[in-house]
Amino acid sequence: MRMRHQAFHCGLLICSLAAGSAHADDKKDTVPDFKRDALPILEEKCLRCHGVKRRDGKLDMRSLSSMLIGGVSGPAIKPGNAQKSLLIELIHFNEMPPKKETLRVTKEELALLRKWIDAMPVPPAISPR
Ligand code: HEC
Repeated sequence: MRMRHQAFHCGLLICSLAAGSAHADDKKDTVPDFKRDALPILEEKCLRCHGVKRRDGKLDMRSLSSMLIGGVSGPAIKPGNAQKSLLIELIHFNEMPPKKETLRVTKEELALLRKWIDAMPVPPAISPR
């Protein structure tokens, strides 16, 4: 399943973009990309409740900007700081997806999301005051 998933994305995106550079398998130390790496995880495990039809907690996770705005508790993501990002915290403490959900976020996926947020540049407009 995991293999198929990767192959699918590889076929669609990575291979066309990375022609001439690294192979998908060598990408362990490259920075995760929102559309290519993070969004597919969110799509599969979060968007059902945080997307078009539902915005639980008033949080829309379909785009980076809407996650930066966040929901009732404020921004879901703190660029450059996964540790302080609500989105990561809730996954880490197994609160999201809600416990009754069977689709859990795997360790690898959580690591990828952390890396993605840690690598995110901090735009001046949302720097801590
Ligand atoms: C079955 C529906 C469901 C799924 C799937 C789900 N959530 Fe949620 N989420 C909720 C509900 C309901 C709330 C609001 C109540 C709460 O905070 O417990 C919420 C709240 C949140 C909040 C806090 C929003 C705020 O500002 O208070 C974050 C962050 C969050 N979810 C992240 C995620 C992530 C990341 C995923 C996927 C890994 C996910 N959720 C999947 C139902 C869901």
